[in-house]
Amino acid sequence: MVLNSPRGTSDILGVDIKYRDFIINSSRELFRLFNYSEIITPAFEHTEIFDRGIGENTDIVRKEMYTFTDKKGRSLTLRPEGTASVVRAIIEHKLYLEKFALKLFYIGNMFRYERPQKGRMREFWQIGVEAAGVSEPLIDAEVIWLLSSIFERLGFKNLKLLINSVGCLECRNEYIKVFKSNIKPRIESLCPDCRTRYEKNPLRIFDCKVQECMSVISGSPKIYNYICSACKEHILKVCSLLELLQINYVIKEELVRGFDYYTRTIFEIISEELQSVQNALGGGGRYDNLISQFGGPQIPSIGFAIGIDRTALLMKQLNIRYAESEFSPSVLVILLSGQYQSFALKIMQLFREQNITCDISYEIKAIGSQIKAAEKNGYSHITVIGEDELETGLLTVKDLKNFAQFKFDWKNEKYKISDIFRSNNK
Ligand code: HAM
Repeated sequence: MVLNSPRGTSDILGVDIKYRDFIINSSRELFRLFNYSEIITPAFEHTEIFDRGIGENTDIVRKEMYTFTDKKGRSLTLRPEGTASVVRAIIEHKLYLEKFALKLFYIGNMFRYERPQKGRMREFWQIGVEAAGVSEPLIDAEVIWLLSSIFERLGFKNLKLLINSVGCLECRNEYIKVFKSNIKPRIESLCPDCRTRYEKNPLRIFDCKVQECMSVISGSPKIYNYICSACKEHILKVCSLLELLQINYVIKEELVRGFDYYTRTIFEIISEELQSVQNALGGGGRYDNLISQFGGPQIPSIGFAIGIDRTALLMKQLNIRYAESEFSPSVLVILLSGQYQSFALKIMQLFREQNITCDISYEIKAIGSQIKAAEKNGYSHITVIGEDELETGLLTVKDLKNFAQFKFDWKNEKYKISDIFRSNNK
C-alpha cells in the first residue's frame, strides 16, 4: 500500500494551519470591510464550464485538468480555478437580479495537473473574489485595493503589483493581426504547441515557458500599445485611482495571464525576494463577456484569486510571523500522580467553562519532560497538580513564554479566572 499523499498534494497541519488561518481570517476581515459575501461552489463541475470559460486553447484546459467520467458517463472536472464556477452560479441562481455590484468571495481547493515544485502544487488553495455588474474603472481600483490590502495586512513589505490591459474584443483582434504578422517570419522557431497556438489562439504564446518562444515574443509588439482609445482611457483611469489610493504599481506590457476570459484590466502581485519559489502570489482581471458567453446577460465583472499555500510558504521563508488573532491562553494541566485525576478534572471543567483551552498530561512523567512537551505542542501555560494544590486549593500557573508565574484560588476566584490570565499576560 502506498502511504504517501499523491504527488503534488500535501497534508496541512501544525504550524501551517496557523499560517493558513491567519491568511484566511485576515482576508475575511477585509471582505467584511469591503462588503463581500461568501459563496461556496462544488469542487467539480461539468467539464464544459471550464472548457468554455477558461478557453479551449489555454494550458489549463489542454493539459492541466483532472477530468473524469462518472458512473453515468458525464464528463466532470475538478475545478482548476474559481471564476468559471462562480459565473455558472451567478447565472444558475440569477444572482444578477439582486443587487449591483454583486460582490462574492470564496475559499477553496483547486486542482491543476502541473509539474510540482516549491509553491506549485496539483492541489492548492485559493481565496478569490468576483465583483459583477460594474464597468467603471472605479471597481477595478477597488478590487486591486482589496488585493493589496490583504498582503499589507499579512505583513508583506516588498511586493510588486503588475498591471496591464488586454483591451476589448475589437482592439485585441486588431492587435492579434499585427502580432501574427510580426512573428510570422520566426514561426519555425516556435515550439510545436506554439505553432498550434499561432493558428488558434496567438495570445497564449505569451504563456509559453520554452526559451525559443520567449525570445521570439520578446521583441514583438505589445498589446498595451495597440488598445483602442476607450480601453486606454479605462486603464489610465484605473491607474490614476490607484495613485489616489497611494498603491504602487508597474505597467507590465508583456503580462497577458493564462485565461481567455480577460478583457481590459489584468493584474498580478509578485514577490521578487525569493527566486526559488513560484513568485506570483495572486492575480486577476476584468472579464466583461464571460457571463454573456455562458448565456447570461451582459454583465461586466472583475476579480482575483490569491494562492494560500504559496503565500504561507513565502511568509515562512521571509520570516513574516502570523499574528494570533487575540490573547487565547492554553494550559497543560500536569499531574504529579494519578491520584489527582479527579481534582484535575474539576480544574479543567473550570478552565473550559471560562473559555480557556486546556488539556491534561495523561501520562505521569518527569516534570521537565512534561514542560518540554507543553512547549513543543504550543501551550502558553502549565499548571502542576500535587498534594499542596489539592490541600490549599491554590494553583500556580506558569507562563511558558517568559517563565513568569501567578497563583489563583480555584474555589474563591472561579469567575475571575479569564481576567486573572489576561491581567498576567505580559
Ligand atoms: P491564477 O493566476 O491562475 O488566477 O491563480 C491565482 C493564484 O493561485 C496564483 O497567483 C497562485 O498564487 C495560486 N496558484 C495558481 N496555481 C497554483 C499551483 N499550481 N500551486 C499553488 N498555487 C497556485 C486564477 O485562478 C483566476 N481564477 C483569478 C481570477 C479571479 N481572475 C478573475 N477572477
